[in-house]
Amino acid sequence: MLSLHRILLVAGLLAAVSAAGQLDEIFSWNQLEFAWPNEQAKQEALHSGAYIPANNLPLGLARWKNKLFVTVPRWKAGVASSLNYVELEPRNNTAALIPYPSWKANIIPKDNKIDIDSVVSTFRVTVDSCDRLWVMDTGLADILGEGNQVAKPALVIYDLNTDKLIKRYEFQPSDLKEDSFFANVVVDVNPGRCDEAFAYVPDLGAYGLVVYSCQENTSWRVQHNFFHFDPLKGDFNVGGLNFQWTDGVFGLALSAIQNDGYRTMYFHPLASTKEFSVSTRVLQNKTIATDPHSYYLFKIEGEKGDLGQASASDLDETTGVVFMTQLNRDAVACWNPRKPLSPNTLALVAQDKERLIFTNDLKIDSEQNLFILSDRMPSFLYTELDPNMVNYRIFRIKVADAIRGTVCE
Ligand SMILES: *[C@@H]1O[C@H](CO)[C@@H](O)[C@H](O)[C@H]1NC(C)=O
Ligand SMILES: *[C@@H]1O[C@H](CO)[C@@H](O)[C@H](O)[C@H]1NC(C)=O
Ligand SMILES: *[C@@H]1O[C@H](CO)[C@@H](O)[C@H](O)[C@H]1NC(C)=O
Repeated sequence: MLSLHRILLVAGLLAAVSAAGQLDEIFSWNQLEFAWPNEQAKQEALHSGAYIPANNLPLGLARWKNKLFVTVPRWKAGVASSLNYVELEPRNNTAALIPYPSWKANIIPKDNKIDIDSVVSTFRVTVDSCDRLWVMDTGLADILGEGNQVAKPALVIYDLNTDKLIKRYEFQPSDLKEDSFFANVVVDVNPGRCDEAFAYVPDLGAYGLVVYSCQENTSWRVQHNFFHFDPLKGDFNVGGLNFQWTDGVFGLALSAIQNDGYRTMYFHPLASTKEFSVSTRVLQNKTIATDPHSYYLFKIEGEKGDLGQASASDLDETTGVVFMTQLNRDAVACWNPRKPLSPNTLALVAQDKERLIFTNDLKIDSEQNLFILSDRMPSFLYTELDPNMVNYRIFRIKVADAIRGTVCE
């Protein structure tokens, strides 16, 4: 009995590994390239230190039409541009990143006086169904170095059809705590009601969630114990490195609209193997969201099992399936919320001990393509990357292909 169980386990693992073969590797870079206005501008930036190629790490992604947005946070000095895109067609696996909405908006002047449509440093971005790009700008440059708070943390929203700024909303003092760190954003919008959108921004450093109401143009901070990390799940082994993290609420995924007119938001802290949920009915009403008596309106969905720590997640509205990265497994997993979450209902849709080292972000576009970005970030942060090998990759797979034959189907 025991040995049969073993064989099944091994077979399951093999199936998972070979599934990585289905991933279409659409971009792969040793180091990032940028689309400089001309060669002279590039040489000047190299010379002045405004551009240090090794310090540019891709981190977040989102697709709109032919644009695949790729963020490059200002972890270190010498980031050429933080908000960028690459074109999906014509296909070029080493395409240069094009700053968005412009080069100027991505340059930090010496006096820190940025334009209103600028982005200082961003980790993750979201495209909504109203053709808008939502950018969570931390406002902080050279995070690991001297730390230059150029601007307040802000939500920056662009109209993708015109590439014009719609709004820059600076977080209020009451949204922030001393250790706040905003590295993600999801947007909740009902079809045809673009002005009534809400944004949910997890605070992984100070264990909270900021809700922004577009219509009221205001924000509030939500607290809950489930936003904290699990002290027993903060140990990571990725790409040959061992490190301990304390990151709280991080991955957010919104379900389709339910019968009551609201969505379910699935969420997890990064240093945790649990998944939780809450109705957006709770989050959208400031009174309810900030009332301590709302504690029990937050639910525990289940346990992913050992090594199940995830950064980003996203939900495919057609199938209802949630996808999440698997940092300690060099993998991406799926879970269908129709089945209670347990290690048996979490399936690996792709695993690759080389190409999927640190699956940092994933996103599903409006045509049911799943995009995955891997970037060896721990090596970037704690040692250094080898510029002679491929360090950054972006993959694409159809949702239906990803879940075929798994428990998520
Ligand atoms: C692909 O992009 C790189 C820039 O990163 C460029 O040097 C190269 O010429 C492009 N290849 C093609 C076929 O356009
Ligand atoms: C939205 O709120 C921000 C901060 O409270 C304020 O600066 C801005 O003027 C407001 N925008 C609109 C359109 O009301
Ligand atoms: C928010 O919830 C409170 C308490 O249930 C309720 O009185 C209020 O009408 C709600 N506000 C909105 C805008 O729905």
